[in-house]
This record gives sequence, C-alpha cells and structure tokens, in this order.
Amino acid sequence: MRNPRGYVITGTDTDVGKSVVSAMLAAALNAKYFKPIQAGLGEEETDTQLVQRLSGLPSRHFFEEYYRLNSFASPHLAAEIDGRSLDIKHLCHLPKTRYPLIVEGAGGLLVPVNRSVLLIDLFRAWNLPVIVCARTTLGTINHTLLTIAALRRRSILIHGIIFVGDHHEENEKIIPELSKVRSLGRLPMLEELSSQNLRKAFDQNFQIEHFLNEKAWTVKLRRSGIHLPSTRCFQIF
Ligand SMILES: Nc1ncnc2c1ncn2[C@@H]1O[C@H](COP(=O)(O)OP(=O)(O)O)[C@@H](O)[C@H]1O
Ligand SMILES: [Mg+2]
Repeated sequence: MRNPRGYVITGTDTDVGKSVVSAMLAAALNAKYFKPIQAGLGEEETDTQLVQRLSGLPSRHFFEEYYRLNSFASPHLAAEIDGRSLDIKHLCHLPKTRYPLIVEGAGGLLVPVNRSVLLIDLFRAWNLPVIVCARTTLGTINHTLLTIAALRRRSILIHGIIFVGDHHEENEKIIPELSKVRSLGRLPMLEELSSQNLRKAFDQNFQIEHFLNEKAWTVKLRRSGIHLPSTRCFQIF
C-alpha cells in the first residue's frame, strides 16, 4: 500500500482544538485518523475516542496509537514515568493507507518526544503538509507566528491555518498577512459539540475545495472502492 496523503494537525499549544478540528476534517474528507502518542490515559476519553465520537466515522477509520502513556505530561516525561522509551524510527513511519490520513500531534511543535527529539522532527519525517490550529483570542498572534516560523525553519509545508473560537477580525487578518499563510477558515465555539454540529460548521465555514482536488485520484480510488465526498478526491501536493 502507498504512503499516506493527508494532513498533520498541529496547534499553538494544548487544548487549542486540534482534536475537534481533526474530527471535523476526518468526517469531511472521509479520512482515517491517527494519534501516534497518547499521553494522560485516565478517566477522560482519549483523543482517538473523542475524534471517533465527534466525527461519527466507524472504528475502522482509526489506527491504534503507537504509544499509550499514563501520565498527563509531555511525551518524553510520560514515557520516562512509565519506564518506556519511544522508538523514534518506529514513530517516523506513519501507517499506510489509501484513505486520506489525519495525524494529530501532541501539544505544540517543540514538545520533546525524548531527550533529544522534538515532535516537529517527526513532522519533518512524516512529510505531510501541516494545518495549524490557532485561537482567535489575545496572545494568538505571537503564538501562531512562532509556530509558523518554527515550521518554516525546517522547511515543513504549511497547508494553512484553522482558527478556533469567536470571530476576531484583526487577529484573523493580521496573522495570514504577516505569515503569508492562508486562513482556511474559522471553526466557531459550538454550544453543543456533536458530529452533526461539526458537519454543519464545516459546511458553513470551510470550503472543501481547499482540502481536495477535483481531478486527481478519482479513478484510482473509485477502483479501490473507496468512497470520497461526491466525486472529489484528495489533493496531491
Ligand atoms: N469549536 C469548539 N466548540 C466548542 N468547544 C470546543 C471547540 N474546540 C475545542 N473545544 C473544547 O476545547 C476542548 C479542547 O479541545 P481539543 O480539540 O481536545 O484540544 P487539543 O486537541 O488541541 O488539546 C474540547 O474538549 C472542547 O471541550
Ligand atoms: Mg488533542
């Protein structure tokens, strides 16, 4: 099977809305979802469970995490507490699939995976374009521009920014202007997070064309029996 196409979903930091955005995109693109490292196993659902619930996609759309760590901490620390070491070579390889793949990082870009490797180093190895989730609130200009600068420094392709939160005209304008990275749209705060509401929010606030390419892939995917939204197919980068 071929190496995957898709997006890596990152953000300015933890809790910015990466999993919610991943669920929205996975549903819209009929994609598979992969969270390579899950830290903080506990009573709350894992990101994979949350994305499954909010995307409404069947369980076969979800890969098992490579690492499930107990402590709610940076991956390097959570692994050390569990007495495990994370195999970087293993982490550098994404599962193969013919579906579009949505990969979610952990926290922000410069989170350590071990004492010498950062999450952004894995992004580089995965070689997929990155979508940056950013808040709309005060502080976001600095955090988003720093995130984009770090990606640029490593020549990682940035597909665009997805804002999450209430509309803020100036922040949503100045960040694309200064960074020269386009905004793909804004996901508003939803009163009730559900797969139906996320689907509606995608249709109202995003353009599927920004994530798909009408021409490419159709025949190949149709032959392999994979359904994509209408006749569109996944963008070739
Ligand atoms: N668009 C949204 N509408 C409502 N609540 C949201 C939205 N985006 C995020 N949240 C809330 O913020 C929490 C953190 O979002 P999540 O996607 O898990 O962040 P991350 O994956 O970046 O850590 C969610 O559990 C949810 O309660
Ligand atoms: Mg998450």
